[in-house]
Amino acid sequence: MDKFNGKVLNAEEFKKMDLEYRDAVKKVIVSHVANELKGALVFDEPAIRLAPTPRYKWLVSRNTMQEFGHHILFLRLAKDIGATWDEKKTLTLFDYPMKEWIEFGVIKAFGDVAELVELDDLIDSSYVPLANVAKETYPEEKFHVGLGKEILTDLIAEDKNNKKIINQKLGELFPLTLQFFGHAKSKNNELFVKWSIKKRSNTDMRRDYINRVVEIAESLNLDLPPVPKEYREELESM
Ligand SMILES: [Fe+2]
Ligand SMILES: [Fe+2]
Repeated sequence: MDKFNGKVLNAEEFKKMDLEYRDAVKKVIVSHVANELKGALVFDEPAIRLAPTPRYKWLVSRNTMQEFGHHILFLRLAKDIGATWDEKKTLTLFDYPMKEWIEFGVIKAFGDVAELVELDDLIDSSYVPLANVAKETYPEEKFHVGLGKEILTDLIAEDKNNKKIINQKLGELFPLTLQFFGHAKSKNNELFVKWSIKKRSNTDMRRDYINRVVEIAESLNLDLPPVPKEYREELESM
C-alpha cells in the first residue's frame, strides 16, 4: 500500500479505519500516557522539594502541573478510542534514580528535548486529535527544556565544580535518552510512517535529537559524551 495521506478527524472516523491503523495509533498514544505519568511521578514531583529557592519551586511546580496535564490529555485520547494502557510500560530513562537538583537540571535540559523531537513528528499526524495534543503540549515541553538550561546555567555560575558533575551526569543520561527513539529497524515505526501517524524513521528522529542536544551542550559549554558505537554505525548507514 502507498503511504496513507488522508486525515482522520475524530474518534468516530477512527472506528471506520483499518485495524492496522487503529492498532498503530493506539500504540503511539498509550506510550505517551504511561511515560508522561511516570516522568511526572519520578522526576518532576520530587524536584519541587529539591528546588533550592521559592522561585524555582514555583517554576518546577508549573512544569510538574503541565507534565501531569500531558498525561491527562493523552489519556483522554486513549479513552476516546478504547485504548488500554499499562503503567509499567515505560522507557528506561525513567528508571534513572534521580536524587539531586543537578540531575533534574540535566534531565530537563537534555531529556525533555527527546519529547520535543517526538512531538514535532506528531504535529501533522493523520490522526488529527493526536496532532492537536502535540501542538498543545509542544510549547510546554519547550518551557521544560528552557527551565533545565536555566538550572544548569545557575549551577555552573554558582560553582565551577558543578560543570564537572553535570558532565558526569550527562555521561550517564545521554545514552539512555538515545534509546528513547527505538530500534533502527522497527516494524512499528514502519507502520507509523506508512499510515502518516508519524513522519520520520527512528534513525532520523535520533539524528535530529543528537543535533539539538549538541547545540544545547555547546551553548552551556558542556561536554556531551560521544555517541555510543551502535548508534554511530546506525546514523552513518542510514
Ligand atoms: Fe510532557
Ligand atoms: Fe516535559
